[in-house]
Amino acid sequence: KNIQENMTVVSHNLIARNIYELVLRGEITRNMKTPGQFVHIRVGDSSEFMLRRPISICEVNSDHETLTCLYRADGKGTQALAKAKAGDTIDILAPLGNGFPVEAAADTALLVGGGIGVPPLYELSKQLNARGIRTIHVLGFNSQDDIFYADKFAALGETHIATADGSYGTKGFVTDVIKALPKTYDTFYTCGPIVMIKAIQEALPDTEGYVSLEERMGCGIGACYACVCKVDNDEGYVKICSDGPVFRKGELEL
Ligand code: FES
Repeated sequence: KNIQENMTVVSHNLIARNIYELVLRGEITRNMKTPGQFVHIRVGDSSEFMLRRPISICEVNSDHETLTCLYRADGKGTQALAKAKAGDTIDILAPLGNGFPVEAAADTALLVGGGIGVPPLYELSKQLNARGIRTIHVLGFNSQDDIFYADKFAALGETHIATADGSYGTKGFVTDVIKALPKTYDTFYTCGPIVMIKAIQEALPDTEGYVSLEERMGCGIGACYACVCKVDNDEGYVKICSDGPVFRKGELEL
């Protein structure tokens, strides 16, 4: 299957501090398999930047052949991407990687996201809800100005927000919220920085879970070895881009 397409920008908006919502249209959306897959976006049109940036897929609308990506403009490449306007075309490799197994949840799922790890949980929550699974969302941000999609998650299920500075919701980290929640869930899914993923794995030792890593990447398609990560209790290595980015809890040495 072709994984490269020049997709058309449908809309592009700033929705929180340095966070952009980019909606793209193209036939490649028909190939999406699981929530948690990502796109590799070519940024800039010169050799000034590294060629591509991996960005998680936040929502897919196969009827309209659109997908939504949220990203943080925090470097030269993504700041160049932020200038794209409706009608422009962007060179995309998609869908890449293996996403979250929606069939793993039995009844109630806990979805935990931190910062720019929150977006892939939105499509995941939609698909879980479509299967009749109840979702509980715990979303962590640095501060009130960094929060996005809180209402959209709340429309799908119970939603808790934590901010590190206490300017909104619970003051502290997602694990502070989780420790205070009754254990009504059978499965957890999480995406965010490695320190957060480690803390969640430690806080939920008895719950089946899946983690999505969003670490450094190069090619995005398994060819360059920039993203290798060690398998726990094993000599082996996996590539985050093509074996992941989603792995079973505890599978990797983090
Ligand atoms: Fe190149 Fe994973 S990014 S192998």
